[in-house]
Amino acid sequence: MAARELITEPYAVFGHPISHSLSPRIHNLFAKQTGQSNMTYTAIDVPGQCFDQALTKFYQQGGKGLNCTVPLKELAFKRADHLSERARRCGAVNTLVFREDGQIDADNTDGIGLLRDLTHNLKIQINKQKLLILGAGGATRGILESLLTEQPEQIVIANRTVSKATKLAELFSDLGEVTGCGYDDLKAQRFDIVVNATAASLHGQLPPLPDTLLAEDACCYDLAYSVQPTPFVSWGNQYGAAVSTDGIGMLVEQAAEAFLIWRGIRPETMPLINDSRLKQG
Ligand code: ATR
Repeated sequence: MAARELITEPYAVFGHPISHSLSPRIHNLFAKQTGQSNMTYTAIDVPGQCFDQALTKFYQQGGKGLNCTVPLKELAFKRADHLSERARRCGAVNTLVFREDGQIDADNTDGIGLLRDLTHNLKIQINKQKLLILGAGGATRGILESLLTEQPEQIVIANRTVSKATKLAELFSDLGEVTGCGYDDLKAQRFDIVVNATAASLHGQLPPLPDTLLAEDACCYDLAYSVQPTPFVSWGNQYGAAVSTDGIGMLVEQAAEAFLIWRGIRPETMPLINDSRLKQG
């Protein structure tokens, strides 16, 4: 009898640049942990102008699913044939599934990833709390709906370009109390949870925050992650946050949600997150 052939099922993350991505390491560990030995996951550098071509090629080579990261999430949203409800609100997607006929289902797992890290892993209560989100770009749009499902007392979006913050707030105002403002308007306010969704950390910078911003036992959460504390994580520690952390937990949790969509099984995330947080000291 001929030995049964193991047919490989390829997955990948597309982005540009992509060499820094931790996603292959995370998904390969998930595959090992859940015994999905026929699954492969690689990182592929795809600039925006090559996205359509790269997508077709990956599918023709047997590709089953993809993650998309910067700068491709909005392009992937436009290219998808079927969007989940939450992805529709985000205007961007990070998880694609190829159907047999090549049609693409798309979802956004960023918001649920953040929510799970905050509420489940870090045991932070969002309900009835005052939340501040710094930045009004795609990253903020991707997390607003999930945060609003927890019914916080209010969400304030602060941005350098104030009009972007007020427009984004309007887009989600049917889901709860959301307002937009500039950094100067934060001076007399206190927040229980502050989420940094700006691109500032990526450039080693910090948004202009008043020293008095944090309520007692506040949580500071940076969507960016790095081995050294980001400027925002350091700021949170300096000004008395009870928890000040980067986004490694969100990264692992959004990956677990994508893995669940693709493989029908949710991997254990805590071993990986603990390992990363320990390395950060
Ligand atoms: P993303 O899709 O990752 O959110 P983006 O759409 O380019 O990226 O948005 C980046 C966000 O970071 C914006 O809100 C930007 O503010 P502006 O809209 O005013 O440009 C914000 N940002 C970038 N660098 C920043 C800095 N050094 N300080 C404060 N905000 C910054």
